[in-house]
Amino acid sequence: MDVFVIEGGRKLDGRVRINGSKNAALPLMAAALLCDRPISFQDIPDLSDIRNMKRLLAELGVSANEDPVNGLPRLTLQAVDESEIHARYEIVRTMRASICVLGPLLARRGSARVSMPGGCAIGQRPVDLHLRGLEALGAKIELDGGDIVATIPAGRLRGTTVFMGGPFGSTVLGTANILSAAVLAQGTTTIECAACEPEIVDLAKLLISMGAKIEGAGSPRITVHGVDQLGGAEHTVMPDRIEAGTFMCAAGITKSTITLDNCPLDAMMSVTDRLDAIGVHIDPVGSGDDPLSRSCKVSCDEQMHSVQITTQPHPGFPTDLQAQFMAMLCLANGNAVITEKIFPERFLHVAELARMGASITRMGATAVVTGVKELTGAPVMASDLRASAGLVIAALAARGTTVINRVYHIDRGYEQLELRLGELGASIARATEEEAAHLIAANG
Ligand code: EPU
Repeated sequence: MDVFVIEGGRKLDGRVRINGSKNAALPLMAAALLCDRPISFQDIPDLSDIRNMKRLLAELGVSANEDPVNGLPRLTLQAVDESEIHARYEIVRTMRASICVLGPLLARRGSARVSMPGGCAIGQRPVDLHLRGLEALGAKIELDGGDIVATIPAGRLRGTTVFMGGPFGSTVLGTANILSAAVLAQGTTTIECAACEPEIVDLAKLLISMGAKIEGAGSPRITVHGVDQLGGAEHTVMPDRIEAGTFMCAAGITKSTITLDNCPLDAMMSVTDRLDAIGVHIDPVGSGDDPLSRSCKVSCDEQMHSVQITTQPHPGFPTDLQAQFMAMLCLANGNAVITEKIFPERFLHVAELARMGASITRMGATAVVTGVKELTGAPVMASDLRASAGLVIAALAARGTTVINRVYHIDRGYEQLELRLGELGASIARATEEEAAHLIAANG
């Protein structure tokens, strides 16, 4: 298993381009199941989650062709065999987001068998809202041998009002599933308490260019007028706001100035608001045509201040940046209070940060981070994607060497993170566990 070896204390400098968003790309790719025409995507990132989604779609009869345009990756997906309806456990267990094939499969092929995703490191993660929503549209749902088996007794899904709110707010992939199913339903569907995340807006954009009739994406009420069929389309995946936020934290904790290109600043108000309060400044560079993909300068040249952060559904502060901000706040002045309202158990990074000298007290879904003068390098364990990104942030500023084990978690959501941070001046290398041991011994 690969590890990252990070020598902390280097300043960052230069510019980095933000890639297409993983969490936008996964439901976008699943939308290829909705028709038999080619759907071309620009800027799908090269990540293990994306490779798993390609594998899953291939098993479902979707061909994939890659031909870069202007140096940017382009992926064309086309459903060429629509007979298969089974998303098997072997793939679903590697990636929970596989659930987003359920809505498209059912709506287009009339039935679907999708392995029920299990728990994961960040919490329980049920899919009850996805299933209730599909039932409201007329699906019959049963559980068989760990698989969700969905059929449509009436032959076609029927538009209705679907409520997507749960105990922790709206569900993002649940909204994606219902939206992707409702586009082919008979009549009008109103999705109430819909997730407002920019990734849902991106999905609606693609579906509209495939011929769907959708109003209100990005608001809590989405109206979908079902159509009989959809066609091919071309789509550029929105930039990854979580990747952008992670690089912003990297600049903040190392007190550096870097430039981010293709940064979805308009989708990051809650993030830039907290950064500003901490003392990390974000300045848009130039005007750029698309407000979702501008360049910005990130700088921090003062002692960071502690702040309160509460994770919430969009447009609130994203849970996917909680760990990275916690890592950064370990070196701020005073006490920061971080409350997790989406995944109350998402704190596995706390114990690992403590191994690096952080002072964090957790009480239920809240953690109080008391700023310390310095963090020190240590061997630590990556537990999930964003927790691991938090450990990278901490390691960039720690005194000495940090070895992050199990970086396959990072590879799920950050493309070549070590090379891109390296180009900005960080000392970070990927190694096998054995190589890392030699490296550390050689460096004394
Ligand atoms: N929930 C339910 N019932 C459901 C679905 C969700 O109670 O049927 C609860 C969840 O347990 C959670 C809350 O609702 O407490 C929100 O979960 P949501 O369904 O919105 O999460 P998701 O759609 O499965 C996506 C992202 C996650 C991100 C969350 C929240 C993708 C592929 N995943 O997951 O991203 O944390 O939204 O914003 O889009 C990550 O990238 O590291 C990641 C975990």
